[in-house]
Amino acid sequence: MVQCVVTGLGSYVPQRVLSNHDLEQMVDTNDEWIVSRTGIRERRLASADETTSDMAYHASVLALRDAGVRGEDLDFVLVATNTSDTVFPSTAARLQARLSDRPMAAMDVQAGCTGWIYAIAMAKALIESKACMRVLVAASDKLSSIVDYHDRSTAVLFGDGAGAIVLEAREGPGTVGVLSTYLNADGRGAELLVQPGGGSREPASHETVDGGLHFLKMSGNEVFRFAVKAMPEAVEEGLKRAGLTVDDIDFLIPHQANQRIIDAAMRQFHLSEHQVVKNVSRYGNTSVASIPLALDEARHEGRLLPGALVVLAAFGSGLTWGSVVLRWGMDR
Ligand code: UT7
Repeated sequence: MVQCVVTGLGSYVPQRVLSNHDLEQMVDTNDEWIVSRTGIRERRLASADETTSDMAYHASVLALRDAGVRGEDLDFVLVATNTSDTVFPSTAARLQARLSDRPMAAMDVQAGCTGWIYAIAMAKALIESKACMRVLVAASDKLSSIVDYHDRSTAVLFGDGAGAIVLEAREGPGTVGVLSTYLNADGRGAELLVQPGGGSREPASHETVDGGLHFLKMSGNEVFRFAVKAMPEAVEEGLKRAGLTVDDIDFLIPHQANQRIIDAAMRQFHLSEHQVVKNVSRYGNTSVASIPLALDEARHEGRLLPGALVVLAAFGSGLTWGSVVLRWGMDR
């Protein structure tokens, strides 16, 4: 039996801070509204010349160093993103070229904010089927490149960032690693969170740009209602697949979209503040990067002791949702 284990983790956020007070100068909003409705106080924004693959690279270098391996030692580079440097080729191909002189498989996984969860599920399947020994799973989004900073309903929510994990094969049942994954999608909600322009349905034109169709559009209320149901379902289904229950949770690391969505899950599962990792106040919603950022922070704060049962759960555009259940520990 082959076990999929974690050997390295890294994360990255750009330096520039955009505070709620900065946003008050840009759109008709205020700090009180943003904090009370979302829990967000500030977010990080990439510079104009900093790309999604640049951020993925910084996080990946840290993850590889943490694992004690070189880029050449990987078999596969997966990148979860919704804001690829270019529509094609993939951000993963660009990242692969920077990490390794040796060619290897590379592709993007696009599944809204659930993308990193999807990509980890892919990596686990590649490793457990013995197709791969070592997979880098990066997550990077530069949402500031598709946010309309004149639209107060979305401008206040999003930030930029990246994370990366190295997953490897180990023989035997083992004591740590990825225990289970759960993925789901319901495309009937496709228009609730969408970048309408620039794809094959509405190719870029003067009209699409004038109409702002290249910006992200979200029906916030509907997505909120979906999220408060989808995240708990993802947690319970992931645990069920691992033969566990919510009583076994040591830590929940939810997608950092909104403090109220996180708190609803915390209450539903009777988890304490200590058991739920939150950093949405400092980074806003960094899409695919939000869970690896929170996981890496919790690790550096010394909160995740080896053997802890950690559930990662996300939801996002698609609509998609899913979870990863991990027995924490670095098996280097
Ligand atoms: O990872 C992607 C997943 N996305 C999400 O998780 C987002 C889920 N949705 C949400 O988090 C919330 O729906 C929002 C934070 C986006 C909005 O919160 P809400 O409590 O659902 O507010 P609302 O959209 O119902 O708007 C309430 C009021 C409206 O004014 P009226 O019509 O009541 O006069 C909005 O125009 O708040 C107004 N409003 C704002 N006011 C000040 C909306 N955005 C702002 C703003 N500042 N930034």
